[in-house]
Amino acid sequence: MFRGHRARGWNDLVWIAGLVLAGAPALAAADLDRGKAIYQDRCEICHGAGGRGDGPTGRVLPTRPSDYTSAAFWRGRKDAELLDIIRQGKGLMPKWEGGLSDAEIRDVYAYIKSAFKPE
Ligand code: HEC
Repeated sequence: MFRGHRARGWNDLVWIAGLVLAGAPALAAADLDRGKAIYQDRCEICHGAGGRGDGPTGRVLPTRPSDYTSAAFWRGRKDAELLDIIRQGKGLMPKWEGGLSDAEIRDVYAYIKSAFKPE
């Protein structure tokens, strides 16, 4: 759709409806390898290699990042809410909008979910 091919009817409509409902690019289309590379490069120092919020910088912050391996963290959280925090920042969490593209933000978030979120 946005990569230069022409609209193909229902497929595109369904995809666009999904985008509107999710408020974000579809996570299913995320590139997890790229997400992992971004995580290691930009997030791990605070969020930790295992996603527990215990990276070398994260563990000395007065407000620590959450533990992504905890089921309690994910309970009731919405993708759109967490994607917004990545875009806009929050407290000591830097804002990534402008530094990362929306697709990169989708990829790194999809990686966090797939690597750390418990079943
Ligand atoms: C300088 C340290 C630092 C870096 C680098 C950092 N974060 Fe955070 N992040 C935080 C802190 C601290 C919070 C908790 C903010 C709060 O609730 O006050 C947070 C919160 C978050 C949250 C909301 C859920 C939570 O943990 O409370 C997400 C999602 C997140 N970060 C993703 C990322 C991603 C993705 C990257 C890399 C692109 C990243 N962060 C880089 C420090 C960091």
